[in-house]
Amino acid sequence: MFVQVPRGTKDILPQEIGAWQEAERKSRHILSLYNYQEIRTPIFENVALFKRSLGDTTEIVKKQMFVFKQGEDHLVLRPEATASIARAYLENNLGFGVKLRKLFYIGPMFRAERPQKGRQRQFHHIGVEAIGSFNPNLDIEVIGLADHLLKELGISDYKFLVNSLGCPKDKIKFSDLLKEELSKHKDKLCKDCRLRINQNIFRVLDCKNEQCIRIVSGLGFGHKYLCADCKDSFVLVVEGLKRLNINYELREQLVRGLDYYSGVVFEVTHPALGAQDALGAGGRYDYLFKELADKEIGAVGFAFGQERLMLAMPKNNQAVGLKVYIVTLGRAATEKGMELSQKI
Ligand code: HAM
Repeated sequence: MFVQVPRGTKDILPQEIGAWQEAERKSRHILSLYNYQEIRTPIFENVALFKRSLGDTTEIVKKQMFVFKQGEDHLVLRPEATASIARAYLENNLGFGVKLRKLFYIGPMFRAERPQKGRQRQFHHIGVEAIGSFNPNLDIEVIGLADHLLKELGISDYKFLVNSLGCPKDKIKFSDLLKEELSKHKDKLCKDCRLRINQNIFRVLDCKNEQCIRIVSGLGFGHKYLCADCKDSFVLVVEGLKRLNINYELREQLVRGLDYYSGVVFEVTHPALGAQDALGAGGRYDYLFKELADKEIGAVGFAFGQERLMLAMPKNNQAVGLKVYIVTLGRAATEKGMELSQKI
């Protein structure tokens, strides 16, 4: 029997690759204007890295990692790159002599999800990580960069959804508020969410069950869980987005599925994508470095799903075609033609 491509993966064919290369070329151009340098980390990492960084109760760590053993090593195909970049930053001392490290990456990620339009098991990220600052102006710059990148790719009609989770103490307050509020609706939540109330309440906000979505969309806390410093930073960021004319909307239900986030988080949605409507997402992860190496290092970043960018991009990015074509007739002409084409 013929052996097909694995479920949830795709060949990127010659007729498609021109548009992919064009998206990458334009992205590299914008990223270099903002002074980002490329980093390439291994496609597989030690499992412990993602367990520590993303959190044991997250969907990715619980269900979606392609894990394998090689001898004594317990490995995983990387489900995302932020944790890898943080590891590489620490391991290679990339903060030495440089206050702010701006890194970008383009490459495949792997998650064992149920495949559907815009959701694959192997997909690609174009992402950035700015490491070394707690300054909220960096959040504005990073969101501004994401906006600039989309414009360069000719994508329009997208929207940034923005929220702040606050510092770890605020996050606990936020989760307590959510617990109090959602417990009132416990009977109407799905079976999974009833468990999530005690395990990881933030995951209730990402549930795709219609009844849960209805309950969650009615929640609103006016950001009262934020401490004075986090509130000031958030106001500063939102004012900055207004000044840069970025199309944003505040969304208090946006929490992001990964434990490493704190402070400002965001997602970019696009109507052309259907159910999987996030073109990309990101936010601050100031406490990841504390978790990995007990270091105080501020950082913010985002990643776009390249497949989803390709779906939202206008379809006029053709590969550059053939430039010279030699036609010959007869043996002597063919010999001459081949000499000529080799010379050219
Ligand atoms: P994420 O939201 O898990 O964030 O992924 C970012 C984007 O990757 C999503 O918005 C989506 O466009 C795309 N994506 C995710 N899963 C799939 C899939 N199965 N198939 C196709 N596309 C997918 C992160 O991974 C964070 N590391 C982003 C970040 C960088 N935060 C800070 N720095």
